[in-house]
Amino acid sequence: VGQNLITLKEVDSTNTFLKNILANNEPLPDGTVIMAESQIAGRGQQQNKWYSSTGESLAFSILLKPHFLALASQFQLTQIVSIGVYETLLPLVGNKLKIKWPNDIYVGGRKLGGILIENQVQGSAIKNSIIGIGLNVNQTNFPAWVPNAVSLRQILQTDYDLKALMFEICSHIERWYFKLKEGNGSQLNEAYLHSLYWLNKKGRFKVQDAIFEGMVTGVSAEGLLQVMQDGHVKAYNLKEIQFIHN
Ligand code: BTN
Repeated sequence: VGQNLITLKEVDSTNTFLKNILANNEPLPDGTVIMAESQIAGRGQQQNKWYSSTGESLAFSILLKPHFLALASQFQLTQIVSIGVYETLLPLVGNKLKIKWPNDIYVGGRKLGGILIENQVQGSAIKNSIIGIGLNVNQTNFPAWVPNAVSLRQILQTDYDLKALMFEICSHIERWYFKLKEGNGSQLNEAYLHSLYWLNKKGRFKVQDAIFEGMVTGVSAEGLLQVMQDGHVKAYNLKEIQFIHN
């Protein structure tokens, strides 16, 4: 992952760019990476915008071709990518670093990075997975429309080399990707749960209009968040449940 690297000065979104190349049937090897210095229309999950700051933040997309993976197992891609980012940052940030389900990278309640995975399906298998990763690295401040963000620089008072971080993330993802390919993904769920924000801690959640206190007990194979409320565990998708910060 990352051996075939395409770097761009400016792009709307590295995910969109990669999709467009694929749509033109241009052959791209598994593990191709598109990285942009400046991303002017970065996309986040649930139609959110993603803020990138030229030369200060990391924005790249990885193409994986996990033909061996059934669509029903797509959450495993979410897991390998979030663990890859987590493992890269853990030695720098320490154990305040968490994965916030499903794939946000958090430090002390603030968002350091985000992941947007867009899968293209063929039959019941995943043909192409477009994995977009955005990381706040050297920013010293954020515009007002970006709430709750934090950069590595703000946490550690140090500047980091963007490309070096990108390669490091790629190599961690690659390690898990190979494991998964070899049918060796059994430690994946454990590693994911180990770094999950709020696992086994009480928190406040909102479902429809009801706010309740619950506890995250795990994540299902489909990637649903399992939350215990009044002794019963229910599973929710991202649209159904919100965390309430206080
Ligand atoms: C989120 O937290 O909502 C996901 C953010 C993902 C941002 C990255 S930056 C590189 C890639 N290109 C995009 O347009 N989005 C992803």
